[in-house]
Amino acid sequence: MNLIKSVVVLSSLIILGCQAGPDQTNIELIQDMMEGPQIKPQEGGKNGEMLNRALPVKSVSREHEPYPFDKSDVASAEKLKSPLYSVSKELTKERLKELEKVGQTKYEIYCGICHGNKALGNGSIADKMLKRPPSLVTSVYKSYSNGRLFHVVTNGWGLMGGYASQVPDKYERWAIVKHVRRLQKTSGKGK
Ligand code: HEC
Repeated sequence: MNLIKSVVVLSSLIILGCQAGPDQTNIELIQDMMEGPQIKPQEGGKNGEMLNRALPVKSVSREHEPYPFDKSDVASAEKLKSPLYSVSKELTKERLKELEKVGQTKYEIYCGICHGNKALGNGSIADKMLKRPPSLVTSVYKSYSNGRLFHVVTNGWGLMGGYASQVPDKYERWAIVKHVRRLQKTSGKGK
């Protein structure tokens, strides 16, 4: 009986609590719902950092390394060499190992849906596309240079969009290319 009473009291409190009028403040049952801790545009963060401020016109962020070639400039992209095949100052042995996994994960997130996780051109939405995504394990794409594949991933090709904004780290895009190379060795002939 006591339980029923408390349920009735509690639910009437909830119902009444929510009925605010023009001169009556309601009871805020869930904190932070009405006055969230969001930061207003142009406002500094708690630690004084800059948040969401647009860059001044014609400026480029220091971290951003623009991709130098236009979509149609395949010839220049052909000359690019994948940096993932040797250890360097930026790419330690550990980082290279990490990128192997990243390549597969990002491929399966961004490319598999169309080209298929084995790159056979049979991703889950391939049938529904106006132009069917090609299998990437045929001799045509086996003969593509790493640079050309990187160019397609970065800028897109024909109906396919580029992935430079979804995968801004160029090493991760190279890792996707390396994963495609692996699939070309393991996925058989394809179609
Ligand atoms: C939304 C579907 C879709 C996704 C996602 C997608 N592609 Fe494509 N891809 C296509 C289609 C369609 C084509 C054929 C485009 C054309 O010829 O107009 C294509 C073409 C290609 C080509 C051949 C380009 C050429 O020169 O013929 C490569 C290589 C490729 N994609 C790799 C990738 C990789 C790697 C990813 C992930 C980063 C990816 N694609 C993500 C649909 C997709």
